[in-house]
Amino acid sequence: MDTRGSKFLVADALEDIGSNPTGNPTLADVLEERFGRRDVMRGLLAGALAGPALLSVRPAEAAQSSMATAEDKPAFTFTEIAHGVDATHHVAPGYNARVLIRWGDPILPGAPAFDPMRQTAAAQAQQFGYNNDFVGFAPLPRGSKSADRGLLCVNHEYTDEEVMFPGLGGEQSKANFARMTRDLVDIEMAAHGGSVVEIRKVKGVWTYDATSPFNRRITAETEIAISGPAAGHALLKTAGDPTGRRVRGMLNNCAGGMTPWGTWLSCEENVNSYFWGTLADGHPQAKAFKRYGIPANVFNWGQHHDRFDVNKEPNEANRFGWVVEIDPYDPNATPKKRTALGRFKHEACTLAVGKDGTVVAYTGDDERFDYVYKFVASRKFNAKNRAANMDLLDEGTLYVAKFGANGTLDWLPLAHGHGPLTAENGFPDQATVLVHARLASDALGATKMDRPEDIEVNPKTGRVYVVLTNNDKRKPEQVDAVNPRAANEWGQIVEIEAIGGDHAATKAEWRMLVRGGSPAVGGQFHAETTDNGWFACPDNLAADNHGRLWVATDQGGAWAKASGTADGIWAIETDGPRRGLSKMFFRVPVGAEMCGPCFTPDDKTLFVAVQHPATDGVDLWEGFKGKTSTFEDPATRWPDFKAGTPPRPSVVAITKTGGGVIGS
Ligand code: FEO
Ligand code: CA
Ligand code: CA
Repeated sequence: MDTRGSKFLVADALEDIGSNPTGNPTLADVLEERFGRRDVMRGLLAGALAGPALLSVRPAEAAQSSMATAEDKPAFTFTEIAHGVDATHHVAPGYNARVLIRWGDPILPGAPAFDPMRQTAAAQAQQFGYNNDFVGFAPLPRGSKSADRGLLCVNHEYTDEEVMFPGLGGEQSKANFARMTRDLVDIEMAAHGGSVVEIRKVKGVWTYDATSPFNRRITAETEIAISGPAAGHALLKTAGDPTGRRVRGMLNNCAGGMTPWGTWLSCEENVNSYFWGTLADGHPQAKAFKRYGIPANVFNWGQHHDRFDVNKEPNEANRFGWVVEIDPYDPNATPKKRTALGRFKHEACTLAVGKDGTVVAYTGDDERFDYVYKFVASRKFNAKNRAANMDLLDEGTLYVAKFGANGTLDWLPLAHGHGPLTAENGFPDQATVLVHARLASDALGATKMDRPEDIEVNPKTGRVYVVLTNNDKRKPEQVDAVNPRAANEWGQIVEIEAIGGDHAATKAEWRMLVRGGSPAVGGQFHAETTDNGWFACPDNLAADNHGRLWVATDQGGAWAKASGTADGIWAIETDGPRRGLSKMFFRVPVGAEMCGPCFTPDDKTLFVAVQHPATDGVDLWEGFKGKTSTFEDPATRWPDFKAGTPPRPSVVAITKTGGGVIGS
């Protein structure tokens, strides 16, 4: 989710704000010491440091990369599409982009057909949810590498009431939630969560099977277990759940990941949005809630459901902001919130498994000036026994990243008793460290980043890519090597290399892959990248089997300023002489963001998620120019809205005409 240009602009509490008040050293301190303040301020040094020659502590690395053969690293052969903005989607010539499933499509037995004029919570709970973000593909049968039949695992991050509910009259906010009745709130709650849907490809065309016994909806009311070190802790107990081990729902599930044992990791992100009220004097969670931006009052669920009112249920918010593990192959399995991975605004969670079976999960906290994390599981992956892996993410060590100016990276353990993480400092036990992971990372002095979004592991090289989407609040004195631009509207992608391939090690190396934006604003791509090839605000990632990255962007309502193009998918070479060469492959309709890129195991299908079409910054599009005064009237946002066909978030399947691997 990008929060600019929507109701979140007035919410005063999400990624836009940045709630990290610490004085944790940005790398500027180190740089100033080594190279002098003036160069740092001018950004010259930061730019220079981002180059591989200075950053690589193993200078031979760049040369090795260049020696890759053309066969190993094929160039993209598709014809690039152009930057632009209009009301439909576009894909490179020679490819088909077909809508596979949309908000409201029935997926459970007895589900009614979509009718936005007569929507109910009961109907919505049986239909595909809203704002599809993460997309995962779990092959059928389980354990196979099937690329033409599988389970689509999709997050439904949040809802946009102004384009969901005909006649509502625009976005609702704290000043005007009067129209958001209990019935509408309950529809919103049913439209959140996730979907599992069986899909098949027949004669090159994907369809979903509404009758599949695997199909499942998870909503804001689904019972979910709380597991791991914080389960049962006093901070997680409520009137509704005195055990601290059961919670209803998962919220704001953004990106995620799939595990080698065939489960789906779904990440709760901007969960502060759902909490309501004003913290009462002496509220027991006041300090931590402030750091987590709670309550944000973006949704008014707390007016109708007491558990979302921070004063009526002071611990409910502690039960959201986790990584949720779901078994898509068993629709009756209870999802589990894995507290060992910490509580914050998880964007995504991506696993790297070492040759010895060591499991490492990378995850980021998407907020301005927040952190990058990894979790190292205590037990090894067992390729022969699925059941042995099912609770593997409950035991291990969580680390937070401290990026060095010289291309080194230290992983600092969030372990109770380590350094400042003591009872005297407000961390009486490991559960508190995990529930208040942001506060623990503040105390450890982690590096404050430009909004960590998706993280992906390159299957060819094992390198890890961390997307930093933007941070327009970074001041010149706050720039550092890994966040090298002040007022950063464009983002960057950082590459982490586990030394010797050991993802569990506490030291690693990092270097910059690309910096977003046009060359005029300091964007840095391969020299052959065209005017359509650069992008701004990278968000989600997929890696193909060749080790190339497919980047989805989320500029939000700032698209006109950040790039002038609608969001889309760009493909990037990550290695060899074309490293950093980027080409535009797909573009979304105006007001949408691009989410969920996901390949089938054969790379012959790319699923993408078109989220919230007709919302972010549509008033800036020339098709709506002059109509800004009616921006709040949904009918002007989409020509067909009055006819009962609102814009519908959808998952789109992209295939090559006649078949073949995407991109080459
Ligand atoms: Fe939901 Fe950070 O995007
Ligand atoms: Ca996003
Ligand atoms: Ca995102």
